[in-house]
Amino acid sequence: MNAISEITDIQQAAFKANCNVQERSPNPISKVTGLAYAVVQRPDLDSATKFFEDFGLLVTQKSGDKVYMRGRSNSHHALVIERGSAAFARLGFYAEEAELNKLAKHFKQTPKTQDSVLGGKFITITTPDGFPLEINCGLNSLPTINRKESDPWNYSDSKERINDCIRKDIAPVLVHKLGHSVYSITNVKESIEWFQNTLGMITSDFQFMNDEEIPSSAFLRCDCGDTPTDHHTIALALSPELGHVHTAFEVDSMEEVAMAKDWLEKRKQYKHSWGMGRHILGSQIFDYWRDQEGDLFEHYADGDLFDAKVPTGYHPFHKQSLHQWGPDISNDFAGLNHPWKLIKIVIKRLFSKDDLTMKRIKKLGKAMG
Ligand SMILES: [Fe+2]
Repeated sequence: MNAISEITDIQQAAFKANCNVQERSPNPISKVTGLAYAVVQRPDLDSATKFFEDFGLLVTQKSGDKVYMRGRSNSHHALVIERGSAAFARLGFYAEEAELNKLAKHFKQTPKTQDSVLGGKFITITTPDGFPLEINCGLNSLPTINRKESDPWNYSDSKERINDCIRKDIAPVLVHKLGHSVYSITNVKESIEWFQNTLGMITSDFQFMNDEEIPSSAFLRCDCGDTPTDHHTIALALSPELGHVHTAFEVDSMEEVAMAKDWLEKRKQYKHSWGMGRHILGSQIFDYWRDQEGDLFEHYADGDLFDAKVPTGYHPFHKQSLHQWGPDISNDFAGLNHPWKLIKIVIKRLFSKDDLTMKRIKKLGKAMG
């Protein structure tokens, strides 16, 4: 047992006993199976398309004021760019038709038909903080683009590549799929339990500041029964700036995360935020970048997969609790690069019905050093 898990074991029982948020819903309205796509709005479609091509997505279709982009997986589009004021607009989930129908009935909606390019049906619902989600079934798919065979690796005591060389393509690293999105929320218990009760999501791990009944963050996976699924598809956090925190796309290896970082660095027009490192909760190798509008996107590889049987974990939240190795959390990632903007946001939130109280702001400050 390493130092990280020893600390977790000792504190877990206390956090669990104190927590007033459920781990999963005993009777959810429906169950989703994963993220299908994210939709961003950008004033300049060409410039945004260039960022996401450099990030590792391919254009599948341009239609009017929309650009559809895919990764290697069979999703028709992992990302849609729409012309409009800069915003992270909405997320699309996959669901089976029966699950979509249960949701439609609950929200008194009739599923709408997607356009012929996308196929399938969907409804739009909103989270307690008003963030729109599209729940889809029957979306068209595309042939999967096969993963490149891994080069044989010359370990120190096991040489697998003899009389052969490695030569990498110097190009954007094609992502595999959209993996997860993280949001900052106002009311922690209400939001976490909404995702559990509405979409059947299971808490993989909670993180707590000391003596708190509510977690400072929750990592939620889809309930796919015995089929292992990503450690988190949605994560929710109590942090000052509300709304979209980051969205992550999967690549195949640590070297691909590094090569993607190198490619973006050499474009000299995007802002690196944090990485490379390895997360603790989810275990991913990570690297974070901001696009031209300041939205944060992550490349990750080698994340954990859990089936529905794995129980919820309880962990402390502090500056070192997000990564096992790698550079310290950057000011940019922690949201500290624009202190006056942060102060204005915090003051506004202190006067609203919100879990971000002055006491918790102090605790967050202390936890983040
Ligand atoms: Fe992430």
